[in-house]
Amino acid sequence: MDNRINKQLLRHISLRQLQIFEAIVQLGSYTRAAEQLFLTQPTVSMQIKKLEQGIGLPLFEQIGKKTYLTEAGKIVHDHTRQVIEALDNLEMKIADIQGLKTGTLRLAVVTTAKYFAPRALGKFCERYPGVDVALKVTNRERLLERLAQNNDDLYIIGRPPQSDDYIFQPYLANPLVVLAPRSHPLAGKRRIKPERLAEFPFIMREPGSGTRMAVEDFFAQRGIKLKIRMELGSNEAIKHAIDAGLGISVLSRHALVLEGEEGRLTILDVQGFPIPWQWHVGHSRSKHLSVVANAFLDFLKTESDSIMRI
Ligand code: PGA
Repeated sequence: MDNRINKQLLRHISLRQLQIFEAIVQLGSYTRAAEQLFLTQPTVSMQIKKLEQGIGLPLFEQIGKKTYLTEAGKIVHDHTRQVIEALDNLEMKIADIQGLKTGTLRLAVVTTAKYFAPRALGKFCERYPGVDVALKVTNRERLLERLAQNNDDLYIIGRPPQSDDYIFQPYLANPLVVLAPRSHPLAGKRRIKPERLAEFPFIMREPGSGTRMAVEDFFAQRGIKLKIRMELGSNEAIKHAIDAGLGISVLSRHALVLEGEEGRLTILDVQGFPIPWQWHVGHSRSKHLSVVANAFLDFLKTESDSIMRI
């Protein structure tokens, strides 16, 4: 590393400026960053000007009413996040030495994990009351975008991405089952052949869903073409549609967690089911996990089974 540049930056830029810079990038505006940090807008502008002088290049450019990062701004942003992350970790490690687990856990989960994640977080926060949680629930495709952008600490997904850039580990079984209304002609039948499902209208999750991926793989491997009547972007909407007699579907058994298996829907006994899907938790390989994120990983490995017993 060029020592001269290193010293020059240390002398000319401050952590506060980086914090202001990060807030502008996150919120997309000087005004909102000023509000969030309880500063005036002229102070924010002045600090960014000083940061730009320290770096020696402009960091933002204005196109119309919008503020964009310049090439240099993007590089500074990349490193700013690392600095902020390192400081967060420092804070948490110190708290850890003091015997406290404090800090924020940023968790992003696929839609179907919403049946599991809040329960796990509830128990985790009971154990560590100093922890704040930011939970993002989205479908598989969006979650992979967030993972690529390093927006969160940990990610929960059915099938992890096949790339060495990420580390994922399975921690809990997530069986996918065939659901039908109790009045369905196949309800109560034993060892139904999967081909028979093609005789009935099927309700499919939206493109980009991990559940959909598993269902498509299962039927494609057997050369079965389903009669898809509709696509819905939510497990809850699908359950209502099944109940209304609009079709059958395949969902995670966890989607029944609140009503239990004695509810209005029934699980069909189809050969090859349940599809043995697994929940995986992970992060990008380059991520330095915080004390809290590490504690949550351990917690998932030891407590998940008891949390999800239904
Ligand atoms: P989904 O994902 O909620 O987007 O269907 C589930 C999964 O990844 O298994």
